Amino acid sequence: MRRKLAAGNWKMNGTSATLTELSGLISAHDTPDVDILICPPATLLAQASALAKSHPLTTGGQDCHTAAGAHTGDISAAMLVDAGATAVILGHSERRVDHEESNDLIREKARAAHAVGLTTVICMGESLAQREAANTLDIIAAQLAMSLPDDCTGENLVLAYEPIWAIGTGLVPTLDQIGEVHDFIRARLERRFGPGVGRSVRLLYGGSVKPDNAAEIFAVSNVDGALVGGASLKQSDFSPIITALEKSA
Ligand code: PGA
Repeated sequence: MRRKLAAGNWKMNGTSATLTELSGLISAHDTPDVDILICPPATLLAQASALAKSHPLTTGGQDCHTAAGAHTGDISAAMLVDAGATAVILGHSERRVDHEESNDLIREKARAAHAVGLTTVICMGESLAQREAANTLDIIAAQLAMSLPDDCTGENLVLAYEPIWAIGTGLVPTLDQIGEVHDFIRARLERRFGPGVGRSVRLLYGGSVKPDNAAEIFAVSNVDGALVGGASLKQSDFSPIITALEKSA
């Protein structure tokens, strides 16, 4: 059985004052029936990890470099571990677009993250033009084939299907569209990594998940949780999403 996962991506939001939202979340879910991961900006990671120290909630980074050393402004996977992270989001569409990150680069980052024991939350998804041209599954197939290193397991890999056009827009694919992509990803994972690993990797849906649509999304086959952006910033929004996931578990 795959344990459900509610992951929050704070993106470039939050200052020390925002950590009160995290404290609220921690006290509201002291014995959660699902895994909870919060990925704050790097500036807050160590403080967030310290707050979550004796709580099942874990923290993660939003990106890492493939290496260490002379790379001004970057953060290595080992530094994320040092700041208390257990996971790192890689290949988010905002990085693929804003920083022109390729599938090859994302795969190398994942390799570096796995090497220091981080779980990678690798994101993929199609643009609106690609969806309208009926290319979604081809795009996902290519992203899957190229962004995942060969050392993936059910412990070190989580995949997030995030249609670019659904991120931060309030637009959400139909439940059938979500199910089609998640089933496709599951089948591809089983084919590449074998049924044992393929069935144990958790698949998150991301893109405008809110308290009022979470339950129906969590009922879709092969949806093991969500990667939540905007609605993870406030405990009052994220808590009902966590509760909906617990009910679906
Ligand atoms: P959103 O972002 O929930 O604000 O749409 C999701 C994401 O980008 O991970």
